[in-house]
Amino acid sequence: MFVQAVFSHDVRQLGINPNHWYVVARSCEVNTQPISVTLWKQAIVLYRDSKGQIHALENRCPHRQVKLSHGKVINNTIECAYHGWRLDENGECVEVPYLAKNQKLPNCKIRRYLVQEQDGFIWLFPGEVGTSTNVETRLIASLQPQPMGLPEWEHLNYIATVSTIHCKAHYSYLIENLMDMYHGYLHEDYQAWAEAELQDISEDENRVEARYTAQSYYKIDKIWSISQLFFKGLRRLHPEPLHVTYVYPHWASTLGQDFKIYCLLCPISETETKAYLVHFTSLNAFWRLHKLPIWFRRFVKDSLFGAAQKLLDGLVVQDVKMIEEEQQAYLQNPERKNYELNRALVSVQRLMQSQVKNL
Ligand code: FES
Ligand SMILES: [Fe+2]
Repeated sequence: MFVQAVFSHDVRQLGINPNHWYVVARSCEVNTQPISVTLWKQAIVLYRDSKGQIHALENRCPHRQVKLSHGKVINNTIECAYHGWRLDENGECVEVPYLAKNQKLPNCKIRRYLVQEQDGFIWLFPGEVGTSTNVETRLIASLQPQPMGLPEWEHLNYIATVSTIHCKAHYSYLIENLMDMYHGYLHEDYQAWAEAELQDISEDENRVEARYTAQSYYKIDKIWSISQLFFKGLRRLHPEPLHVTYVYPHWASTLGQDFKIYCLLCPISETETKAYLVHFTSLNAFWRLHKLPIWFRRFVKDSLFGAAQKLLDGLVVQDVKMIEEEQQAYLQNPERKNYELNRALVSVQRLMQSQVKNL
């Protein structure tokens, strides 16, 4: 039987619920030079002040609307490249280099966004938080849902690899790809799992968890196990639970005890999505390693950073190709129906719809 859902809105046209934390950049992407990012059609400039603190403002100078990201950071202000006006972290103009003695600073203000740096990424809250002062804003922020976070990022027992996804497609195609474990078929040599079978789904207003059983190709229990990432012949299929969760607006998964993968989303528009795929390999099985000095364990963690890069990038290329083709097919024939057999996808579409329904 086909599972078909009837929704009032086309899921491929859905906006986002701004009252969540989105990931707009990696920490290492934001240095002294301001950078420009886009989150759901909003141009934003990110910069790090002289104390290393991250700030996020609308990416436009209030003087003549050019991009602030062309400018530079001077102490705690961002200076526009055109006439050198300086704005503080609240988006207020605090200096004009050619202001005459009888002139006042213009009373102009651009939008500032709540932003936090956590677990190697820059998390941004695009929801409205009013025009309060910084302290009040932080208070309000503490009441909002907090960034999902990646507890494994700093944990010494996990090796991280990050791959960037940039696809010309609506975010729903990416989430559906990530929730549908029957697509292991696509990945051939990069395949991490096989024979997925959906067991059950649990869902609430913020998440959908789909639990599959599967066969994993990897087992991290010997000191040389990491070489399975490079040598196909060392991989042996063995049963493992495969759990995938849409934690709106992001995604998290576990394959047995050894692997954890996140996908951190930054939807750009109805036809473009950026995301970061973060893969963690667990060293939990190596109890001897845990007795070694912290500095050594940190050295092991840092030296192995990116160990799964080729694997992860390979998976991303294959997935993005399919996702973009789906988007193109939709644009050419939006009325054409898909035939979906995986009920986890019906659940995630329902969640995406309900998150934006009452905005
Ligand atoms: S346009 Fe930015 S200072 Fe003039
Ligand atoms: Fe995939």
